[in-house]
Amino acid sequence: MSHSSLTHQFDVIIVGSGGAGLSLALSLPDHFNIAVLAKSTLTDASTFYAQGGVAAVLDEMDSIEQHIDDTMIAGAQLCEMEAVKQTVEGGKPSVEFLLKHGVQFTLDEQEQLHLTREGGHSQRRIIHAADATGRAISTTLVQRAQEKQNIKIFENYIAIDLICSQKLGLDGNNRALGLYALDEQTEKVHTFLASFTALACGGAMKAYLYTSNPDIATGDGIAMAYRAGCRVANMEFNQFHPTCLYHPQARSFLITEAMRGEGAYLRLPDGERFMLRFDERAELAPRDIVARAIDYEIKRLGIRHVWLDITHKDENFVKEHFPTLYARLLELGIDITKDMIPVVPAAHYTCGGVVVDENSQTDIAGLYAIGETSYTGLHGANRMASNSLLECFVYGMSAAEHIQTHFNPAYTFPAVPVWDDSQVTNPDEDVVILQNWDELRQTMWNYVGIVRTTKRLERALHRIEMLKKEITEYYQDYQVSKNLIELRNLVLVSEMIVRCAMHRKESRGLHFTLDYPALLPELRKTVLTPPNFEVETPLVNI
Ligand code: FAD
Ligand code: SIN
Repeated sequence: MSHSSLTHQFDVIIVGSGGAGLSLALSLPDHFNIAVLAKSTLTDASTFYAQGGVAAVLDEMDSIEQHIDDTMIAGAQLCEMEAVKQTVEGGKPSVEFLLKHGVQFTLDEQEQLHLTREGGHSQRRIIHAADATGRAISTTLVQRAQEKQNIKIFENYIAIDLICSQKLGLDGNNRALGLYALDEQTEKVHTFLASFTALACGGAMKAYLYTSNPDIATGDGIAMAYRAGCRVANMEFNQFHPTCLYHPQARSFLITEAMRGEGAYLRLPDGERFMLRFDERAELAPRDIVARAIDYEIKRLGIRHVWLDITHKDENFVKEHFPTLYARLLELGIDITKDMIPVVPAAHYTCGGVVVDENSQTDIAGLYAIGETSYTGLHGANRMASNSLLECFVYGMSAAEHIQTHFNPAYTFPAVPVWDDSQVTNPDEDVVILQNWDELRQTMWNYVGIVRTTKRLERALHRIEMLKKEITEYYQDYQVSKNLIELRNLVLVSEMIVRCAMHRKESRGLHFTLDYPALLPELRKTVLTPPNFEVETPLVNI
């Protein structure tokens, strides 16, 4: 057994420094000894890149009931009512939490929070910091966490796997004891032990070739939880954002839905405002409908992109509402006050995830999953814009409450073996990782994308199983590296996506298959149970 690793002990370990991880960290009392791990820099997270905002019922014309209804409609009725209620009712407290920590949102002329609009929302209810909301939230929360004496931050540490009592042969219920993580700088694997472990690792949309997500979004939390024995649900519902920039010099660059919320049109090369043909809500129909319409037109006309047009709006209005987009696109030679923007859909959000309860607890005692890593039941078959940051804060705070009430100051840390790398060698050919990485993402894009068929899914599964075998062998033989850890997770999560998709014999929300174009009468979720992907399809709780 190798003794090259270090062991750390904390009350709570949080994997992830996005909105979910930091809202948990900052909601726990100061006497808790907390570790926050991030596999890159602290702000390198989807949270930082959010543009649109956070949905919350604040306007007097608005109501909790309307926000609930909109969420259910966007989610194609597959949302679990208790989760929707909990999240929507948590809107105001979440906004208070963010304001308390000093996040600066855009104000209107009356010095009240300015509310913008996005697809699916029947009211203006999105608070935002111009068009760079995520940056304002992320930098503020990171700063607050850095100021806290009781929060120790581990940047560039990548969690590899959870340590659970059952795997160690300890008696009693299966309990999370902590995890192993690779320190990228020293290339050493550390052991982190804690009374409570939280996975707030974000989503998995790097499984697709084209995505709005940052590189960290490789489904690590979902994969780790599944390997440890947690159920995972609804992985077939992958949201494609309709409007990512189509430009060779700017990959993964999102054009916020708030632009359509403020009146931008989608047009074909001949100028036609084509969304009117697809849905009476036109550009503000839920994302699945808009993304599918764009995909359809791109394929029908053999074009590479469609156009987003806000040139009919007043120049100052555009510059004031979208200063970041205006400046960035100008650098690329596009003046959005005069030019239309070339856009395509790209993979954006993982609606499924690790099954949790109202306290963010997973199936394993002491293990929590929060934010995009989790399946709370909120999003159903399609997440409504700006509901996801809200979910991060609501469930981050509820996990904090649960941890506080279940904290045992007399907890004794069990003896845990350190990481054993005595049987592995240095990798001889990193090209294997690159090859498999590219093949996986291409397969997912071509066969498991916006429009699916059973045959395409079968082809995808066949390839993914081969890739998984090769990656597993590689993982067993060679030293771990960040790329290898991520690829191992991504292939597992891709398999979950395909297996869930194959089980859904209907087209609902984000899952659209030419073989089953109709809706089934019953509202069922898709639940995968480890270790062999047993599928259950229980009714959702409406
Ligand atoms: P993230 O913010 O992605 O954070 C994940 C964290 O986990 C990172 O710190 C990462 O380093 C860490 N991590 C992951 N794996 C490991 C590992 N193995 N070891 C250690 N650390 C690990 N939602 C909205 O509600 N409104 C919006 O306006 C909006 N706009 C968006 C725009 C873009 C471009 C994108 C990509 C998403 C947007 N979303 C928006 C979605 C929303 O941003 C995300 O769902 C949300 O930020 C997820 O937060 P999170 O804390 O769960 O994960
Ligand atoms: C956007 O600004 O369009 C993204 C909003 C979201 O994903 O919720």
